[in-house]
Amino acid sequence: MARFQNRVVIITGGGSGIGATMAELFAAEGASVIIFDREAAVADHPGGRVVDVTDRAAVREAVAEIEADLGRVDVLINNAAIAADTPFLEVTEEQWDAEVAVTLKGSFLCSQAVLPGMIARRSGSIVNIGSVNGVQYLGNEAYSAAKSGLLSLTRSLAVRYGPDGVRCNAILPGTIRTPIWDQRLAAEPDRLEKVARWYPLGRVGAPEDVARAALFLASDDAAWITGVALPVDGGLLAGNLPMTREVVSE
Ligand SMILES: NC(=O)c1ccc[n+]([C@@H]2O[C@H](COP(=O)([O-])OP(=O)(O)OC[C@H]3O[C@@H](n4cnc5c(N)ncnc54)[C@H](O)[C@@H]3O)[C@@H](O)[C@H]2O)c1
Repeated sequence: MARFQNRVVIITGGGSGIGATMAELFAAEGASVIIFDREAAVADHPGGRVVDVTDRAAVREAVAEIEADLGRVDVLINNAAIAADTPFLEVTEEQWDAEVAVTLKGSFLCSQAVLPGMIARRSGSIVNIGSVNGVQYLGNEAYSAAKSGLLSLTRSLAVRYGPDGVRCNAILPGTIRTPIWDQRLAAEPDRLEKVARWYPLGRVGAPEDVARAALFLASDDAAWITGVALPVDGGLLAGNLPMTREVVSE
């Protein structure tokens, strides 16, 4: 299946983890993939560009060059994010600003840069990679606040630009084994095994679990789907499994 033949797809944060897997799967379905990421992350990736998504001028310049070279941007995946595992009372102003800037302002800047072309062609799809943290308290306050804001942005763009033929949806991943966990695993190596017990489907996720959902939402298979927030979370948001084990008899 080549759902993205002749389509141009930008993936922010595509140099690592979920973004890198999305880049592979979109390319396998025929897409021309461009990755926006930091210098250290783009080196090994064909289609990689050094673009800090919080830098308005850099984002605009990159999108303008892509449109000049390839003629269009069909899909934008707002995936770049940072999260530091800092106790709330120790979160600095700089850290708060940095986490909110990458997730929320970066998604705003990238969306604003690609939308005029999408509106002009009356076709385009934006997929925002949110988090279960955006709808339920699970720690990481600054990151979570930004992810909640991203869901509001998803609804705004879906309703505002639906009449122009542009769709915008979000994915809410649960715990996914990627380098974003490195800092926490260094402190507690069995953390993901402990976390897995909370998941009805019995495991944490893999980058492919999220990437396949992103391909679906970005593709014409989802032509009449906009404004949704799709949990890709092994059932985490559906209920409280550890509590259920205590109170429900077999
Ligand atoms: N891994 C999880 O458990 C999990 C859970 C829920 C949601 N998510 C979300 O999935 C997405 C991908 O996460 P991941 O786990 O693959 O993380 P990751 O850290 O492996 O990848 C994130 C990428 O974003 C890039 N990035 C950071 N700041 C940037 C900037 N200013 N400009 C451009 N690129 C920048 C990083 O360099 C990195 O390549 C994120 O939005 C994350 O919040 C992840």
